[in-house]
Amino acid sequence: MKVSGFSKHFLIWAKIIYHILGNYKTKTLCKLGYFKTTTGSTHSRFSSVSDSLKYINQVFQDYLSFADISVKDIKGKKVLELGPGDNFGVALKFLIAGANKVTCLDKFYSNRDIAQQYQIYKAMRDELLQGGKRSFDSIIKLNNHKFEFTGNKFEYIYDRGIEQALEIFPSASFDMIISRAVLEHIPDLDAAFNSMDKLLRPGGYMIHNIDLRDHGIFTSVGLHPLTFLTIPEKIWKLMTGHSGKPNRMRLDYYKHKMEELNYNYRIKIILSSTLPMIENIKPKLQPEFKKMLSEDLLPETIFLIAQKSRNNPSADE
Ligand SMILES: C[S@@+](CC[C@H](N)C(=O)[O-])C[C@H]1O[C@@H](n2cnc3c(N)ncnc32)[C@H](O)[C@@H]1O
Repeated sequence: MKVSGFSKHFLIWAKIIYHILGNYKTKTLCKLGYFKTTTGSTHSRFSSVSDSLKYINQVFQDYLSFADISVKDIKGKKVLELGPGDNFGVALKFLIAGANKVTCLDKFYSNRDIAQQYQIYKAMRDELLQGGKRSFDSIIKLNNHKFEFTGNKFEYIYDRGIEQALEIFPSASFDMIISRAVLEHIPDLDAAFNSMDKLLRPGGYMIHNIDLRDHGIFTSVGLHPLTFLTIPEKIWKLMTGHSGKPNRMRLDYYKHKMEELNYNYRIKIILSSTLPMIENIKPKLQPEFKKMLSEDLLPETIFLIAQKSRNNPSADE
């Protein structure tokens, strides 16, 4: 879709106003203790159980292959999954692979279709061999179209962001912190990394899949994919500070943060834009983005794999 100059400005301002109102609404609802949202209702948007299984298997497989780990590296580990959304299939895969415990922490409660969730868990169980079924049954009971997590290997906490997680977990509680499409939704990423750093035991891993795109804010109406980087920071904060919309942190942020924390890390670029596309809009970007290397503006989706140093003192503070 090609958008003319006038309609471009109109669309941008219409979107800005829409998101400022949405952000204010989420802030007010959270203050009133209402944490339900459609953010993270990933499976509600799938049309079949097999789409859900495909997604769960892919997310699990991506953690293994991008971090270059195998099932034996998961055995006995305590895992923190950030922002699971409406389904715990990935947590179940980690537990069935031998994790000691998986804690799912979400700032919001993603709306979910319980009947659909039952069908997903049932289909996951059907795929397992006898030994896997036994592990599955010790974690989640399926009965009469209902499901219930039992035992102490799985934990789900919502209404708390990772930024506040030190209020509920002691330092060095986890061997692995994983997330898919979550970090880009956190407005105060410094606070999130500070928290994750303290929660990881020395030698522990973080594996994050991060989507650096505009999440449809402007692209859904045919605007350039980097239009969101042309909006001044103050306005962007009004649009997104509470609603979990993208925080606009770029590749360089993650590199600097890992260096600051002294992690051994690598970043894999999964999806990338093209240089002509970046150069096309670069003069209109906000100064903080304009001064970046074009190469740092190219990545659209990345995997951050980082290991905390074995003698990193932050966990003992
Ligand atoms: C795009 S969804 C991704 C859901 C799921 N990981 C998936 O792949 O379908 C983003 C998730 O991050 C959660 N989230 C947003 N801010 C968070 C925060 N500060 N701490 C933990 N989770 C957060 C949202 O509630 C939502 O569940």
